[in-house]
Amino acid sequence: MQAAPGSAGSRRLSRRLSPASHDNEGPMDCCTPKGYRWAFSERGAQSQARRYRRRGLDAVSSRLVRLLRERSLEGCSLLEVGGGVGAIQIELLKAGISSAVSIELTPIYEAAAAALLRESGFDDLVDRRVLDFAQAGGQVPPADIVVLNRVICCYPDMPTLAGAAADHARRILVMSFPKERWWTRFAVGIGNLALRIGRREFQMFLHPPERVLEVARQHGLITAVIDVGNFWQVVTLERAPAAAG
Ligand SMILES: C[S@@+](CC[C@H](N)C(=O)[O-])C[C@H]1O[C@@H](n2cnc3c(N)ncnc32)[C@H](O)[C@@H]1O
Repeated sequence: MQAAPGSAGSRRLSRRLSPASHDNEGPMDCCTPKGYRWAFSERGAQSQARRYRRRGLDAVSSRLVRLLRERSLEGCSLLEVGGGVGAIQIELLKAGISSAVSIELTPIYEAAAAALLRESGFDDLVDRRVLDFAQAGGQVPPADIVVLNRVICCYPDMPTLAGAAADHARRILVMSFPKERWWTRFAVGIGNLALRIGRREFQMFLHPPERVLEVARQHGLITAVIDVGNFWQVVTLERAPAAAG
């Protein structure tokens, strides 16, 4: 039976279907360490590494790397937050960056990432650390380029995470996140409902893209390119030139 519009039942249902988007919700209110371990498992990490060995970067990561390769990368340092198995780091090292720092919230990727780094010969050039960048970003040095690929949508406190990422970007910040359309809201809402029913202790977040860009602007970046795909948009922001004094 369908709940009548405006009834308590329909309000409950629409609350369940609407993607979480509470900027100030603490990370542990919706997503516990157990939830993150379930969402990002070691098996998943090994299968992502196998996929990268066989077929290279997935479509969204390729778009992100292509946007960066249009610029001069020679000698640049990279900071990737939530980089998973580190495929983007390897591709950007091949493209000429000098070194990378990889920050991950969960340790489950470390074995798969270490194997990929060994195989690529770049193991000396990547410093991998496990920490919550929104909470402990102060321990991480800034870099010329900062990348967050499909990370903003996995963290409830977008302003703190995006703000810290922007503060660390000396030249460029690239982020990918879902665009805001009825179908992305619907897909994320259905996914979150399934996660709640399965008591998975993990949620996805559709932070309004305009709000994400606004946070980056407040931290001194200007939007350079917005590459909009069917579900994901990839946004490149640059450090605004300092105003002449
Ligand atoms: C959907 S996965 C994306 C992984 C990879 N970037 C990709 O696109 O394949 C999101 C990743 O972001 C990480 N993450 C989320 N919030 C984070 C934070 N505050 N600090 C560090 N890593 C974070 C999660 O651990 C997870 O590995």
